[in-house]
Amino acid sequence: MQKPQEIVLAEPRGFCAGVDRAIEIVERALQKFGRPIYVRHEIVHNTYVVNDLKNKGAIFIEDLDEVPPGATLVFSAHGVSKAVQSEAEARGFRIFDATCPLVTKVHVEVAKLAREGYEFIMIGHKGHPEVEGTMGQLSEGIHLVEDVTDVAAVQPAQTELLAVVTQTTLSVDDAAEITEAVRKRFPHVREPKQQDICYATQNRQDAVKVLSGQVDLVIVVGSPTSSNSNRLRELAARLGTPAYMIDGAEELRHEWFDGIARVGLTAGASAPEVLVKDVIARIKELGATSVRKMDGIEETVKFPLPKGLKIDAATGL
Ligand code: F3S
Repeated sequence: MQKPQEIVLAEPRGFCAGVDRAIEIVERALQKFGRPIYVRHEIVHNTYVVNDLKNKGAIFIEDLDEVPPGATLVFSAHGVSKAVQSEAEARGFRIFDATCPLVTKVHVEVAKLAREGYEFIMIGHKGHPEVEGTMGQLSEGIHLVEDVTDVAAVQPAQTELLAVVTQTTLSVDDAAEITEAVRKRFPHVREPKQQDICYATQNRQDAVKVLSGQVDLVIVVGSPTSSNSNRLRELAARLGTPAYMIDGAEELRHEWFDGIARVGLTAGASAPEVLVKDVIARIKELGATSVRKMDGIEETVKFPLPKGLKIDAATGL
């Protein structure tokens, strides 16, 4: 059996600015207000991150009934509907919103255009919390399409004022194809000035496109619930390179490496670098002797934290 020789690391990979910020919000809230801190939904879709925060004192809930009066509550990076936001406010929790600012941007656009009378076609995955949050900005007039077939079936009440919005973590290519179908059916549809798919999703997919051509196998570090990680695995497979997604090094199977010389490694936007390091160590145990970083763009995006989470250097509070 040929052993893997080289590991090629995708650039960029792993944490995006929205994930960095969301985790920091929970950690700072724990430091400032003590445990427990309640978090609505997984703060980001990664098993390791969620378990780590659980150990530090975070309690993850889906239903606001599980949060006691007076508690501190953090909304996850995926965002929440208006109904969840209003209910949390009405119950008087101390709230910190870890919704990624790029998701909030979509919410703001939806609210603004809805006031002008627009109806919406949302491209996204049914049941994903970001889709529920964005669709839940309105009580009606926002229609979900998951694929081109859905576009043919969608029935807006009018077509004069119609806008398209998307989930931020879709496959760039699929979204373009679905948007094209929407455009064909509704030629007047308004599209976002800047696409809703975020820079991190775009950059990680672009990197996998380059990576796939250089390697015999692609490993994506990411949890099964992570939309953007799933899209990275699908993309590599679509380009003809065998690809697997794993939550951590323990899920690697040695038979995947039969006859494989070069292994490409990337990570979804919610997967921490420590897991990538574990995977590198494991592939080295299987025989790889060199690790090379692919050329790629450097990301410098950083989002500010919400007010009320500054830590006083002197007191640590
Ligand atoms: Fe935000 Fe995109 Fe990351 S929407 S949380 S920057 S994957």
